[in-house]
Amino acid sequence: MNDKKAFALYLKNKLGDGLSLDQIENLIEKPRQIHQGDLAFPCFQLAKILKKSPNEIANQLASGTVPDHFEKAEAAGGYLNVFLNKKIATLELLTKILNDKEKYANHIFGNGKTIVFDLSSPNIAKPFSMGHLRSTVIGSSLASISEKCGYKTVRINYIGDWGTQFGKLICAYLKWGEEDKVRGNPIEELTKLYVRFHEEAENDPSLNDEGRMWFKKLEDHDPQATELWVWFKDASLKAFQKIYELLDVQFDSYNGESFYNDKMEETVKELQGKNLVETSEGAQIVRVGDDIPPCLIKKKDGATLYATRDLTAAIYRKNTYAFDQAFYVVGHEQSLHFEQVKRVLKRLGHGWADNMHHVPFGLILQDGKKMSTRKGRTVLLETVIMEAIDLAELNIREKNPELEELRTVARQVGVGAVIFHDLKNEKGNDVEFSLDQMLKFEGDTGPYVQYTATRIQTLLNKGNFNGKLPHEISIEEESWELISVLNEFPATVEQAFHRKEPSVISKYLLKLSHKFNQYYANVKILNSPETPERLVLCASIQIVLKEGLRLLGIQTPKQM
Ligand code: ARG
Repeated sequence: MNDKKAFALYLKNKLGDGLSLDQIENLIEKPRQIHQGDLAFPCFQLAKILKKSPNEIANQLASGTVPDHFEKAEAAGGYLNVFLNKKIATLELLTKILNDKEKYANHIFGNGKTIVFDLSSPNIAKPFSMGHLRSTVIGSSLASISEKCGYKTVRINYIGDWGTQFGKLICAYLKWGEEDKVRGNPIEELTKLYVRFHEEAENDPSLNDEGRMWFKKLEDHDPQATELWVWFKDASLKAFQKIYELLDVQFDSYNGESFYNDKMEETVKELQGKNLVETSEGAQIVRVGDDIPPCLIKKKDGATLYATRDLTAAIYRKNTYAFDQAFYVVGHEQSLHFEQVKRVLKRLGHGWADNMHHVPFGLILQDGKKMSTRKGRTVLLETVIMEAIDLAELNIREKNPELEELRTVARQVGVGAVIFHDLKNEKGNDVEFSLDQMLKFEGDTGPYVQYTATRIQTLLNKGNFNGKLPHEISIEEESWELISVLNEFPATVEQAFHRKEPSVISKYLLKLSHKFNQYYANVKILNSPETPERLVLCASIQIVLKEGLRLLGIQTPKQM
């Protein structure tokens, strides 16, 4: 039984009918200071019901004997604080972690239901942006966290490979493109062409019409347009794949926007069949309430839009995966778009649209402004990652020149730094891009957590740790704090899931690492009579650090 339940039952027995077991459990808190005990029950609400002072109630509750699980109960400041029986709690927890290993803190509340993730989703013929990095790492982490909570997941990379911009690009290529150059350096050259198109269109607006015409041709399967598009797409996917390999992320599907080209007509028909479509200034729209603009379904020239594809994709995914929930991990600047899409689906009678959640995140800014390919304000992600890896290699070589598989470790550390830097703050915050910050290996960083885990590995090796629990465990003041942090891991995972917030995990890992490093500085782990039990504690911490890093998409090196 978990400690909170045991405490709630104890209170329920003493209190009788005043509050239900659930109410009691919900009121129980964790005291801020460890000397205040392990769990606390605030008596203020009860004081109102019973018309007594909170202190009086707390004192009453503190009298008599406490159950086995606990050592003592104390009244203080209107709270009843209980202290766990440290010996029982420690033995129970460490046994559990060593037995369960990486499965410690697994939950079953997901019940095998499916969550579909829409993540990463870069646009072809453009560099992989910092925003797409955010979507990739936040999305992958949330998917891993969901799996740990008992859900099945489907990771969909909804590649941006359809839309007017590809008409513009084809048009630009046919006017100014050189095949050799594009073959040599596709993304860079195509981006240049795209930027040039916009510059020239400022003086010559007819270019925009030409671009739209080329997209229309593409939608109508024109061979020349299609051939160029296929080429641009293949080259882009190859470039993206390099980044996915570096980050070690995988997807279950790459069905991007173009996948829905031949499926959108059905959606439009369905909308028309239910009389939801209106013509406005030649375009087809669906109204979705007075508080937000209508959703655009087709342009004047009959071309489909971003929203048309997302509507079609949502219906397709519901039919294909029978999802319980769908998470769209996309920057917060697209909130209106997802609200419109959901409302259109609801107007179609698809109540399940309530289970679609836009999971928004903040922008990466450069000098306070949004990065923009069109305006040439971008930083190449691949460059950033490669720099991180090189710097990691330099650092490691300095400290540990003999290290085996140095390049592999450097990759794990460099990539770990980049991912952790992204996931350590609340996802909704905008962040100013800083290569220096991303490449930091000390302080509150991924490499610091990785280093803590490998440091423990060294201790376990030196102490010949055999994975078994010692028969006797004596409880030391210094280790109790660590035990109580280890005990929080299951609730931390659950909270990260409910808040859709990987930073809950990263903050927890920093806390656990700090506490371990304090412990390490104060306690002699090896060559002491207590070595066996201290190693058990270390091993448990390592299991949790590794698993926590895995949930963030970060590997733990064997050594560093
Ligand atoms: N490709 C889009 C962009 O870069 C993101 C796609 C997000 N997913 C979606 N289902 N709309 O802005």
